[in-house]
Amino acid sequence: MTQQSLNILVLHGPNLNLLGQREPGIYGLKTLGGINQLLQSLAEELGVDLSIEQSNHEGVLVDLIQSTFEVFDGLLINPAAYTHTSVAIRDAIAAVAIPTVEVHLSNIHQREAFRHHSYIAPVAIGQISGFGAESYRLGLQALVTHLRTT
Ligand code: DQA
Repeated sequence: MTQQSLNILVLHGPNLNLLGQREPGIYGLKTLGGINQLLQSLAEELGVDLSIEQSNHEGVLVDLIQSTFEVFDGLLINPAAYTHTSVAIRDAIAAVAIPTVEVHLSNIHQREAFRHHSYIAPVAIGQISGFGAESYRLGLQALVTHLRTT
């Protein structure tokens, strides 16, 4: 019997379009395009389909999360600054009940106090934070393993 292919949505939040030039001491030199290439090649290895989007706008991210209903099997999200502010993004994930992994390039728990709280973590399966671009690869791996074993 062939395994049904999983559809995963990857969402990048605000300012992540500037990766590569944005505070490289914190976020590294890899561009968003470079991270997306890493994710696409891991997706091929894992045999899953990825759609990747970035937005600087909270409402656009909410719309994209709502659009996952009955279309996508899982969500990999770096909500960026909205991690620490957005009840709307948290509620959208809860509303569509999509299995979600939250990722961050930097270790948000090692940084300013306002970054320590995540509105997203309570509605996510888990959070990966602090491994640079590798956080995304670890997150995709964890999400796919979760979806294939539950
Ligand atoms: C981030 C951490 C957030 O606190 C910050 O606002 C970002 C990026 C990260 O990937 O490390 O924009 O999500």
